[in-house]
Amino acid sequence: MTDDNALIRPPQEVLDEANVQDWEGLLATAGADPVAFWEQEAAELEWSKPWEKVLDDSQAPFYHWFTGARTNIVTNAVDRHLTTARRNKLALIWVGEDTSKVRTFSYFSLNREVEQMANILRSMGVEKGDVVTIYLPRIPEIYFAMLACAKIGAIHSVVFAGYSSEALNARIDDSESKLVITVDGSWINGSVFPMKQIVDDAVKFSPSVENVIVVRNTGTEVTMDPTRDHWYHELARLPIAQGHCETVQVDAEDPLFILYTSGSTGKPKAAVHTHGGYQVHLSSTMKNCLDIHEADRWWCTADPGWITGTSYVIYAPLIRGATAFMAEGSPVYPYPDVWWQLVERYGINGMFTAPTAIRTLMRFGDAWVTKHDTSSLRILVSAGEPLNPEAWRWFHDVVGQRRCAVIDNWWQTETGAMQVTSLPAMPKKPGSAGKPIPGQAVAVLDEEGHEVPPGTDGFLVLKNPWPSMLRTLFKEPERYVETYWSKYPGYYLTGDSARVDEDGYVWIIGRTDDVIKVSGHRIGTAEVEAAVNSHPAVAECAAIGLPHEVKGNAIHVVAVLANGYEGSRELVGDIRSHVSEHLSPIAKPEAVEFVDKLPKTRSGKIMRRVLRARALGQDEGDLSTLEND
Ligand code: WTA
Repeated sequence: MTDDNALIRPPQEVLDEANVQDWEGLLATAGADPVAFWEQEAAELEWSKPWEKVLDDSQAPFYHWFTGARTNIVTNAVDRHLTTARRNKLALIWVGEDTSKVRTFSYFSLNREVEQMANILRSMGVEKGDVVTIYLPRIPEIYFAMLACAKIGAIHSVVFAGYSSEALNARIDDSESKLVITVDGSWINGSVFPMKQIVDDAVKFSPSVENVIVVRNTGTEVTMDPTRDHWYHELARLPIAQGHCETVQVDAEDPLFILYTSGSTGKPKAAVHTHGGYQVHLSSTMKNCLDIHEADRWWCTADPGWITGTSYVIYAPLIRGATAFMAEGSPVYPYPDVWWQLVERYGINGMFTAPTAIRTLMRFGDAWVTKHDTSSLRILVSAGEPLNPEAWRWFHDVVGQRRCAVIDNWWQTETGAMQVTSLPAMPKKPGSAGKPIPGQAVAVLDEEGHEVPPGTDGFLVLKNPWPSMLRTLFKEPERYVETYWSKYPGYYLTGDSARVDEDGYVWIIGRTDDVIKVSGHRIGTAEVEAAVNSHPAVAECAAIGLPHEVKGNAIHVVAVLANGYEGSRELVGDIRSHVSEHLSPIAKPEAVEFVDKLPKTRSGKIMRRVLRARALGQDEGDLSTLEND
């Protein structure tokens, strides 16, 4: 059991240095007039034309922010630093999986790289509003590619580098990308993952793709189609790649990126985010909630293929003019102290990771951490899944040596940036994500839409629109309204269940829909089921999430076999590998169980709730809609 009242006061050194000392005052003023608060935050950034209105809610739930303004996130993330002393400051330090490989970029040289990539994209006919798919591992070119798209007003669609060719193909086709940026291969624990080959398989059936740009990374041999594929280093030598590339000023509401995420059907949906509001929300949360300082070295370990990476690896540190740090490798390769070695060597001040990584490292024991000097750390951040109190304490006591603020924060691909957090100076409750950020308010509702009393579980909703909110679902405006705004009109439905305690702290319980968070990765049951069903031995199946000590949740599959197939251990292994290959290794089921029949409603919908309850040995609940035998 967690003790909701165990308040932990932040260490004095954190309090002394915090950007926001009077956190209660900030929450009160921003809460009293959120629009005025966001306007004040926006004034810290550059706009080539000021806004007419901060928030236009006349077409709600299609909210618009900073209407009439012109800007570009690259103006704020890169260009504006070039006329200051930051020009020669490190913008990015990158370390390979082989940690002897290091690349560094000042703001000046980052700009040169972005200009080069942007010139190349332009020369290939990429125009404002076109979608470019980026399928890259964590290497500096992912910064260049994302920023280059933004610079010319193109829309990036980053696909996580662990997705299979089928999953990549579905995302390329849906977005009608003209161009894909990838690598020959990526390093994963000393072996090469053949990313170019996956792209080849994915684009074979993608009529929209005209060009594929390939960054040389592992030096692996790949097949190049001369009519479609281009080595990036060869393009970079051409005259078209040289020279200045102007940052296009776009409308604040023009799309910056789409990011596919899982929903309740097999077809992933893409959240649409825009230049203006998104940059304001990132800048504000990075300063107030994550306490970034001018001289900080900031390491967010997420992958830009997920929203945490897009927001807090790529854009947020650059908007605040800090030094971003990126590592290509995993936390345990070649040894479970590689992260702490990097913290020590590079003097990292703020570190943002996921609960699964914390739990994984915790299991290796304290000595791997304590043999390193991690005293540069001041801010420790976690998001993506609930940070259980035990992992919270380890992060705080062992990694942070009780000198750091542990900042949990709750949000989603759709929200673009954090919504609930524990501000650095705020007393912490391990296990709680904190309170709504300045300018936001939440409620917990019952099925009928009534607010429940403190301490009671219910559906978590956001009460206020916010600048980094998704504007719609790409090409699916009706689905946007239906998914987020129809259950409780006027409130944004998060899809999570939660409770708020007497002190206003939010405790996230988990998803209420068909989404499973596995090691912090967001996976839809429907996509897993589609992959399992494509195995010849399977007639039908259901995927459910069950608690897992390290991963938070693990995928369990309950399957009915096709005629003529017998369940066996080999078949289980085969189905698991099939999902890994056809969807992604991150979606590989933990277990596969064979049954004769799946519980279904009379209308034929699989009752995953019943399967979960059975697996957990719980009461199966109301079975009145269960199909009659
Ligand atoms: C879960 C990740 C508990 C939640 C940023 C949400 C969390 C989903 C937390 C979105 C947290 C995110 N504590 N649960 N601090 N942060 N979640 O879109 O279920 O990958 O709805 O965005 O992750 O996942 P997504």
